[in-house]
Amino acid sequence: MSQSSPTNVLADADASAGDRALLERRARLLGPTYRAFYRNPIHLVRGNGVWLYDARGRKFLDAYNNVASVGHCHPRVVEALSGQAATLNTHTRYLSEIILDYAEKLLGTVPAHLGHAMFTCTGSEANDLAIRIAQHSSGGTGVIITDFAYHGATIATAQLSPAAVGAKGVPLHHRTVAAPDTFRDHGRAAKDFAKNVAAAIEDMRAQNIRPAALLLDSAFSSDGIFFPDAAVMREAADHVRKAGGIVIADEVQSGFGRLGQGMWGFANYGLEPDIVTMGKPIGDGHPMGAVLVRPRLVSSFGSNTGYFNTFGGNPVAAAVGIAVLDVIEGEGLIENARNVGAYTADLLRALQGRHGMVGDVRHNGLYFGVELTADGDAALAASKTSSVVEAMREDGVLISSCGPRGNVLKIRPPLPFARDNAEQLAETLDRALSNW
Ligand SMILES: Cc1ncc(COP(=O)(O)O)c(C=O)c1O
Repeated sequence: MSQSSPTNVLADADASAGDRALLERRARLLGPTYRAFYRNPIHLVRGNGVWLYDARGRKFLDAYNNVASVGHCHPRVVEALSGQAATLNTHTRYLSEIILDYAEKLLGTVPAHLGHAMFTCTGSEANDLAIRIAQHSSGGTGVIITDFAYHGATIATAQLSPAAVGAKGVPLHHRTVAAPDTFRDHGRAAKDFAKNVAAAIEDMRAQNIRPAALLLDSAFSSDGIFFPDAAVMREAADHVRKAGGIVIADEVQSGFGRLGQGMWGFANYGLEPDIVTMGKPIGDGHPMGAVLVRPRLVSSFGSNTGYFNTFGGNPVAAAVGIAVLDVIEGEGLIENARNVGAYTADLLRALQGRHGMVGDVRHNGLYFGVELTADGDAALAASKTSSVVEAMREDGVLISSCGPRGNVLKIRPPLPFARDNAEQLAETLDRALSNW
């Protein structure tokens, strides 16, 4: 999910008559909680690689979707999915080789201390399960998160998602800390991140709350996309461990090669998380999630409660998961994220020189945050950001925005993004910024 403050399009849609009818039907059938991206919502009917096509045959460059991470409708993934679906689909209560083959392959991508894989259908379920394990194994209840984090849509994870429920929606036994913002205030919050985590632990202690976990999105996606100093992140992790809690790396956004150095964002910080949670790109569009965990943390949890998720880790999901890992490796997508990511970042930084409103360009691999500023006027910066996103959509390139102030362009294309795609992105952004 993006926290990009999507417009309620029914209020002021620029949609065509056909799309307007679709929007009205959507609102009637799905109710008021659904939001569509863009003032002029897109009716997509087909995808291929980095391209999306609408019902009128218009082609859009997808610079936003990390779910279809190895490319929309990748033929190898589709073949694996349909082949297994045509053979057998059951669940993890029967013996099945393919689930174990997948578990082995996935565990092969993380450090050896993470010895068990547990499967879910979404990132929310993965984080929910991780929190249950953390609370069970530590005996604590308190979880530390960043102050505009998003970790999911179940009760437990929504309560750890101030981006969705607001600061007041976070229960009193949890603590929020300032996200490690490397840009504002000369990066003070990033420098102070470990100190702030230590203070949150102290504050819990003062209220007789035992810490269970530090739960961090390795790319701080909702907070505005930050890549803070590794030593500070490790120091923060040390504080939590010394206080009896564990470290959970939420790789739902940052995982599967997006950051261009390896498979996982936590590795860029030299962190050794006790649990890694994953989702979105894990299945190239298929609903899957996973929790990779230190075996000792689940030994008593496992014997006390057991765990069963009807669809999590089903054979079709396993076939898809294996295909995704094969494509990432076979097509050199991590290297591509690194190389094309650096090239794209150079193009975006060149725009910074041409447009005063581009305050900061930050990236790792193919994950970019472009922060727009307006001489300290936060409302104006947010409205510029939203106008740029809309203008790019009209010009055929899909991106979104994030951050507590809604002033960070969020750019996160599928991993097969090529240099000419990067050029189209930068030229379109240049036009959108010029027309502001
Ligand atoms: C960092 C992070 N964690 C967890 C989730 C929840 O994943 P899902 O929507 O698959 O439940 C999201 C979704 O946007 C996310 O961005």
